[in-house]
Amino acid sequence: MDTPEIIRKKRDGSTLTTEEVFDFIERFTRGDIPDYQCSALLMAIHFRGLDARETADLTEAMLRSGRTLDLAACRLPKVDKHSTGGVGDKTSLVVAPAAAAGGLLVPMISGRPLGHTGGTLDKVESIPGFKTRLTFEDFRRVLDTCGLALMGQTEEFAAADRKLYALRDVTATIESIPLIAASIMSKKLAEGIDGLVLDVKTGSGAFTPRLDDARELASRMVDIGAAYGKRVQALISDMSQPLGNAVGNALEVIEAVETLKGRGPRDLAELCRELTAHMFLVGEVVKSLEEGRAKFDSVIASGQALEKFADVVAEQGGNPRVLEEYSLLPSAEYQDNVAASEEGYIAGLEARAMGSASMALGAGRDRVDSSIDPAVGLIFEKKVGDPVRQGERICVVHSNDRSRVPRALQMIRAAISLSPDPVHPAPLLLEKVSKEDARGLKTWHA
Ligand code: URA
Repeated sequence: MDTPEIIRKKRDGSTLTTEEVFDFIERFTRGDIPDYQCSALLMAIHFRGLDARETADLTEAMLRSGRTLDLAACRLPKVDKHSTGGVGDKTSLVVAPAAAAGGLLVPMISGRPLGHTGGTLDKVESIPGFKTRLTFEDFRRVLDTCGLALMGQTEEFAAADRKLYALRDVTATIESIPLIAASIMSKKLAEGIDGLVLDVKTGSGAFTPRLDDARELASRMVDIGAAYGKRVQALISDMSQPLGNAVGNALEVIEAVETLKGRGPRDLAELCRELTAHMFLVGEVVKSLEEGRAKFDSVIASGQALEKFADVVAEQGGNPRVLEEYSLLPSAEYQDNVAASEEGYIAGLEARAMGSASMALGAGRDRVDSSIDPAVGLIFEKKVGDPVRQGERICVVHSNDRSRVPRALQMIRAAISLSPDPVHPAPLLLEKVSKEDARGLKTWHA
């Protein structure tokens, strides 16, 4: 097919045929369409969108670009969780082992950082030795042994998403509802799961900052899942401030491990509990959300979730001693404080800017092939709604390269707002989108 004609069609607002979508993705994955032509199509999609049929076709074309896990012979319910991307979002590192400890099989294919958001792969790779580039057979072995496995897209698995994800990151085409939906759902469907829980973020640090867009993204993904016979639940959660206290790879691993030990920050622990409870319900290992929450509490209190994480770290080549000795993780040489300029209440910690500040310190990549510094990042000692005195510390900046610090400090200061009056933070969990709201699935506030 004529590649410029496909680009032109979308640029001018026409609908692509199924054949055009399949042909484009197949040739791009094979290397027969150069990045510059694919970038042009991505930008056209960014502006013109894709309708539901085109989004479903794109998902299917991306799914077909790689192998699919066949887990039919495993008797455990196979349920995964995926987030649409946020700042300080380390929930996967808690939720996956907790869900596996509670009797689910969790085959988790994740991504690297996109834009200002962090990625699960870079976080776990800050554990010395941890490998996320696994072959199909290794992934299967870890999954059979631990009940969970973590890896990234490869030439074998989610091949089209691997290339598109990297290209979208550097061409300002991340924030597109159909592109996000197809990226996430093609990866998840390749995992051979029965069900999926989606954490769709909204607020300044999300790729869908407006609640209406988050709803639209959630329903597109739920619909795609339903078309493949999967049980999909989407929770819409707040991403107007960073999740938890830590932003940055090794710092987030420590916070996730603390949460697995029952000592995590309140917002992070609450979100992990809700996501895992929904996974248990989707996997039908519990009959109600109440029971799912109790199961989460029990695998945390008993240490089984932490043990699962230690197992997967060891199986994927990492050193499980880091879970007790945090000094074995990379740590930054310098720490700078950001303090309150006046007395008041924290009114805002603008998530997008905080994510960008962490990237500016070296936690993320400027280019696809650049390396990251796993030690750097931010620790928030105050969150939205907290009172502060003048000069009191709000944030600690962990760095190695002093030349990067002034810009990061400037970004962080500009992203903090104070109010003289008490402030009530936005609720963490906003809404739920699913095809089946029977069985008490709408009841998290109850
Ligand atoms: N996560 C993904 O896997 N893909 C996206 O496009 C955004 C978040």
